[in-house]
Amino acid sequence: MSLTLNAPLDMHLHLRDGQMLENIAKCSASSFSGGLIMPNLVPPVSTKEDVIAYKQRIIQAIGDEEFEPYMTLFFDPSFDREFLESIKSDIIGIKLYPAGITTNSEGGLSGFDVEELRGVLTAMSELDIPLCVHGETNGFVMDREAEFVSIYERLATAFPKLKIIMEHITTKASVDALDRFENLYATITIHHLLITLDDVAGGMLNPHLFCKPIAKRPEDRDALRKVALEAHPKVSFGSDSAPHPREAKESCGCAAGVFTAPIALQLLAQLFDEADAPIENLQAFVSGNGQKIYGISPIPKTITLEKSPFVVPNDYNGVVPMYAGETISYSIISKD
Ligand code: NCD
Ligand code: ZN
Repeated sequence: MSLTLNAPLDMHLHLRDGQMLENIAKCSASSFSGGLIMPNLVPPVSTKEDVIAYKQRIIQAIGDEEFEPYMTLFFDPSFDREFLESIKSDIIGIKLYPAGITTNSEGGLSGFDVEELRGVLTAMSELDIPLCVHGETNGFVMDREAEFVSIYERLATAFPKLKIIMEHITTKASVDALDRFENLYATITIHHLLITLDDVAGGMLNPHLFCKPIAKRPEDRDALRKVALEAHPKVSFGSDSAPHPREAKESCGCAAGVFTAPIALQLLAQLFDEADAPIENLQAFVSGNGQKIYGISPIPKTITLEKSPFVVPNDYNGVVPMYAGETISYSIISKD
């Protein structure tokens, strides 16, 4: 049994920089037609020059593959309208991190006062630049995302024309918020559709499944699966594939991030197949919805998968993928 996906998109992707970029860029470029590139480098991507130069480095690292890096900027509340107008054509979104909440987010935002944000968010909304948000408070780890929902609600109400993307949602609380506000959207990762906290820490600790936000409860996963499998139009696939060197994961003080880029499409095919969900829904979840939400027309590219066992490699240039050494049930057989 085979299935063909048109122009799959990864709407939340960490490609890193330097040697790591060289090592892993092709893992995404060989499966996807494009990806929304996260700006959390050190230092973050926060000027027009940074965006243009980083995009060039990505294109260089990708080599011959056809892959569009859709660039983002690291949010700063001091961005003014003139600056945003000058950068609008170089980016498709601006990523907001609460300060210190995850990898390389030290320069993030430390308060969500609507009046303090009014200038920048009004300008973004008038210029139609989406705001992509890592939605976690610094509360108790299992409650961080649910606690952040009230901040999403405040922003969505104060800026009703601003497209707000709740990145990598992991809870039923976030899923429920989607339908309460016209301007709230979400991305969902493949790992959060497959695992719960039990897989991370219920038995032997698995550092390769440790990420922010942490995987939650079975009922949260069920809620995520429901909207992904039905291809809810406000939800798109974003892997949040976040590579770290093996030493940074298999260590005391494990870095947060799950590396899924090379197996994401195979796992999505497996999940939709096992759930008997229509292929059109997978196509919408992994491309059509993202195209509509961001108003983009991806590079034509087809990826064909078949139901045949694939043994996940133990590492890709020193980065351990999710399910390393395990057998999954779909393989990529051709690309066009
Ligand atoms: C990401 C990273 O490593 O850059 N880590 C993660 O656990 N997801 C950052 C992020 O998206 O939170
Ligand atoms: Zn991320």
